[in-house]
Amino acid sequence: VIDLQADLPLLRVDAALVAQVLTNLLENAARHTRSGTLIRLRAHVHNAELVTVVEDLGAELSPADFERVFEKFHRGAEEQVGAGAGPGLGLSICRAIVALHRGRMWVEQIAGGGTSFRFALPIEQVPEVPAEAP
Ligand SMILES: Nc1ncnc2c1ncn2[C@@H]1O[C@H](COP(=O)(O)OP(=O)(O)OP(=O)(O)O)[C@@H](O)[C@H]1O
Ligand SMILES: [Mg+2]
Repeated sequence: VIDLQADLPLLRVDAALVAQVLTNLLENAARHTRSGTLIRLRAHVHNAELVTVVEDLGAELSPADFERVFEKFHRGAEEQVGAGAGPGLGLSICRAIVALHRGRMWVEQIAGGGTSFRFALPIEQVPEVPAEAP
């Protein structure tokens, strides 16, 4: 499900890197939850930041994991035995990319079951391109 606020501002970012963040988060939501789990992509402006949310209605992360999941090579208990497990690098790379854009990234629990990964990027005034001289 995609839910974007109308009139989102333009941001100056490295588009390939930010696309990598979205890919990693969407892949996690698909890979670390049961097949058929609802996945939502949302974006809105809050306090001069553009907040992007990739969340799923799968299993909840325990609060003890809220920071650990961003550490290099950290994988959940199931992933350590699962056949399709990755190396546990995706979220640490996501957080590094967001930090390079002077943003921040965190995770929240969804009441009733689910995990909400969020990142906020500062909104700067993008200078207007001067009109070409006649
Ligand atoms: N949407 C999610 N729901 C539940 N657990 C998650 C979710 N996303 C990540 N996790 C947990 O956080 C751990 C770390 O995620 P991370 O993306 O860093 O590594 P990974 O997906 O295991 O491997 P990869 O390096 O291929 O991304 C995962 O192993 C999983 O236990
Ligand atoms: Mg991953």
